[in-house]
Amino acid sequence: MERRTETVYAGQYFLAVHGLALIRNVLSDPQATEPRIDAIRKIVADFDEFPHSLAIPLIRHDVEDGYTQWAPVYDGPNPAIESEQPVVHGMLAELPVGVALDAACGTGRHAAKLSELGHVVIGVDTTDAMLDIARAKVPGADFRRGRLERLPLEDDSVDVITCSLALTHVPDLAPVMREFGRVLRSGGTAVLSDMHPVNTALGGGVAGWPSDDITKGIPYVVNLTHQVSDYIGAFNDAGLSIVSCIEPRFGDAQLERVPGYALYPDASRQAFAGLPYLLIWRLQKVGAP
Ligand SMILES: C[S@@+](CC[C@H](N)C(=O)[O-])C[C@H]1O[C@@H](n2cnc3c(N)ncnc32)[C@H](O)[C@@H]1O
Repeated sequence: MERRTETVYAGQYFLAVHGLALIRNVLSDPQATEPRIDAIRKIVADFDEFPHSLAIPLIRHDVEDGYTQWAPVYDGPNPAIESEQPVVHGMLAELPVGVALDAACGTGRHAAKLSELGHVVIGVDTTDAMLDIARAKVPGADFRRGRLERLPLEDDSVDVITCSLALTHVPDLAPVMREFGRVLRSGGTAVLSDMHPVNTALGGGVAGWPSDDITKGIPYVVNLTHQVSDYIGAFNDAGLSIVSCIEPRFGDAQLERVPGYALYPDASRQAFAGLPYLLIWRLQKVGAP
């Protein structure tokens, strides 16, 4: 178990949001950024006063420790899930029924949907606390502890794979895609969702879960950035062809949950509105890799 704590001051974060708002707009619409300059002056002048002086510990957990802490509240409100689920479930509804793998299944969100659609469902995850919730939620499914990089499944044994909001935690997509290509039958479908590289690169790399008291800290598991070319290269090497790619954007629901939105709604909107938030792929295995 590895934990690391760094302290950020609220004022530092607010300055960063105003800076992002500036870089996105200063050349195309300089006048619209004038209120940001005024706000930056004020934040700097009042940096040692509340709320800018608020010290917030950011507690970085490794994957298994983090999801063990997160598991009891994971199924609570989650803006990523609200954007992702209708798209993924729409894709799953179009697929013929067979054997389905929910890879990095967490608390069994997609395993439950796949089971409801009539698939024989296997779920794999590395965190026992998440698997315990999945087992209670989907008693008919077979949940196994395992890693994306070494799936505990036979070759050519599944027709459908889902893998949601987890690839951002693996340092290298290639071994995971090779495993998906290995266990998927020819003609089978993989539906993958992940944090968008634009989102992880602009602060979404430190995306935590709710904490009772912000002054005690915001816990998080780091979200790594995979560029679109990293996904495409890994798909190609694994014999997975792209059927479609969808990039849900920051809309009102996500913006309102951006830290600092309540205090600086205009800056938050100028900084984040319209940026891609998630990346969703529908893939098909066309033949042996
Ligand atoms: C954000 S949760 C997503 C859970 C579920 N797929 C969903 O979308 O609701 C990420 C999950 O990925 C799992 N995970 C992360 N890295 C993994 C790996 N290398 N192998 C297996 N599971 C992994 C974590 O344990 C956690 O349950």
